Amino acid sequence: MSLGAPPLVVVGCGVAGLATALSAAPRRVLLIGRAPAGVDCCTALAQGGIAAALDTGDSADAHAHDTLAAGADHNDYDAVRYLVDNAVMAVRWLQAQGVPFDLEGTRFLLGREGGHRRHRIVHAGGDASGASLLLALIRAAQNSPHIDWRPPAMLDALRVGAHGVSGLRLRWPGEPRGEEIDCAEVVLATGGCGALFAASTNPSGADGNGLALALAAGAQARDLEFIQFHPTALSVAVNGALPLITEALRGAGARLFDDDGVAIMSDQHPLGDLAPRDVVARQVWLAQQDGRRIWLDATHLHETWLLQFPTVYALCRAHGIDPRVQRIPVTPAAHFHMGGIAVDLDGRTTVEGLYAVGEAACNGVHGANRLASNSLLEGVVYGRRLGQSLAGIRRHVPAGGGDWVERGCDADAAALIGLRALSWRALGPVRDGAIMREALDELAQDAGMGGSWQGGLVGRLLHAALARTHSLGAHFRCDSPVD
Ligand code: SIN
Repeated sequence: MSLGAPPLVVVGCGVAGLATALSAAPRRVLLIGRAPAGVDCCTALAQGGIAAALDTGDSADAHAHDTLAAGADHNDYDAVRYLVDNAVMAVRWLQAQGVPFDLEGTRFLLGREGGHRRHRIVHAGGDASGASLLLALIRAAQNSPHIDWRPPAMLDALRVGAHGVSGLRLRWPGEPRGEEIDCAEVVLATGGCGALFAASTNPSGADGNGLALALAAGAQARDLEFIQFHPTALSVAVNGALPLITEALRGAGARLFDDDGVAIMSDQHPLGDLAPRDVVARQVWLAQQDGRRIWLDATHLHETWLLQFPTVYALCRAHGIDPRVQRIPVTPAAHFHMGGIAVDLDGRTTVEGLYAVGEAACNGVHGANRLASNSLLEGVVYGRRLGQSLAGIRRHVPAGGGDWVERGCDADAAALIGLRALSWRALGPVRDGAIMREALDELAQDAGMGGSWQGGLVGRLLHAALARTHSLGAHFRCDSPVD
């Protein structure tokens, strides 16, 4: 390890950032997150696990088939092939990092979620998979001498010139002076933008800050209109992220009913309650528009609740619901961004020296709708690929060259509330051209919302959604036929 050489900077400490940083050894890595380790991070909240063809009789081809079917065949085929071919290896790598996957004897306990035609999902600690995985990767990173994990800071600006990226600037809340760091390779692993929606399963930090900065720096975006809505967030009044009610419950036999006891997914799709997420989320949303409330009934699980689903059990109890004997009120919520910063399979953006991975990036692997439990997998598989490739790359960039690029003004608290409501109304599970155009007008007239970088990003999503005039996957337009 040469301490004098410019470091590789990885921004974001979820699964994708940590897999990248760990795999870049022995190259020196500066790892930077906005919050302390494990806090304000989507990975920590993930209840689904990792999809991998581990069962006898299953295959990478079958996993690819389900990934493409969920993605409405809008996926990049090479990206899907690489993902499914490396899924089993990703599980083995995670085990080597100390992730305690759930086993039955020596065999993996395999669960099922929406869009999968068979049991294919490994969990760790039941529905606490994301937290278990994150804990192991955090420990591994803290014990890795090549990683310098900096105290929490916000990536404030990138320096970009004719040779691409040549530096970045960090800032801390309330401190006027930032810190400038010379570097030639920056990886954005900053997560998605679900927190820009009124109903979301994402923590507040998943606000598209990395995507917005990359766009300001001139990087191309891809598939911005494809936002996934999870059909079953807990329907409660909370400030911030709605608790997730994992789809694995439906994999274990739970079913969705309306107030009248009608099973809303029968006759809707051959996979019934385990149809791909976009299909189920739309049914829940449409029932709500009719004034019906939707309930998940998992009372058949009785006492296995605590063993298999301790996280959801605790979340329900915290809101006064005993899911062993009561149905759970659910609602759709923004969950995952399939689109993002356009990258190739090696994480390269269109700006030299700028890379992106995980939910912030889009290499086309998820198409128009992500298959359940393919996102932690994506973070590991493509994080490892990117880290390994960057271990050997050294660009030579003239020191100090280029101009500072920032995102723009932050929206204040009131503007953010307005913006989230606008996104939910115009870019939710069912979209309409007239409502999206009205939303763009509202952004143009409201300086608080429209003048902020968050408003600018929502504007980009609206333009992308308007440009795709036909429904496809998670992008559903009630004013157009399905492609
Ligand atoms: C879930 O547990 O339902 C979410 C899993 C995922 O997002 O893939």
